[in-house]
Amino acid sequence: MDEFLAADIYVIGTPMYNFSIPSALKAYIDQIVRIGRTFTFTPENPTTPYQPLVLDKKMYIIAVRGGSGFGVGGEYEQMNFQTPYLATVFGFIGITDITFVEMENNELGGEELKEAIANVRAEIARLAGSL
Ligand SMILES: Cc1cc2nc3c(=O)[nH]c(=O)nc-3n(C[C@H](O)[C@H](O)[C@H](O)COP(=O)(O)O)c2cc1C
Repeated sequence: MDEFLAADIYVIGTPMYNFSIPSALKAYIDQIVRIGRTFTFTPENPTTPYQPLVLDKKMYIIAVRGGSGFGVGGEYEQMNFQTPYLATVFGFIGITDITFVEMENNELGGEELKEAIANVRAEIARLAGSL
């Protein structure tokens, strides 16, 4: 918890596992989304019972998927509980400035995979250069 709160910038790399995130990342999230540390809960205030406490932070999420079509406008967009979930749960505690780098077709191999990796590396280098 202290380590998490001490950071100014977060970088998360995660695959999609069964339309969501791996259980290890979920376990980490369950350690850091805590009443009184990362958000407040005041049920006596029905209009705004939840208030975020992790403010003025920046997050980068590299989200990888073996298949494709899970992005915005994709055939399987409604089955994507990976990136929407991460935006929701980190937004809930106050981290709303999130840049997603998404990579699909990770299981295809061959030239398509090489090209996808090169594109993602270029995007990450561009983002790191702008820090
Ligand atoms: C248990 C498991 C579940 C997966 N579920 C999905 C999925 O729902 N959709 C998808 O596109 N890829 C899925 N994949 C593929 C992974 O997202 C992809 O291969 C990723 O790069 C694996 O990362 P890792 O090697 O760090 O585990 C799954 C892979 C595993 C092992």
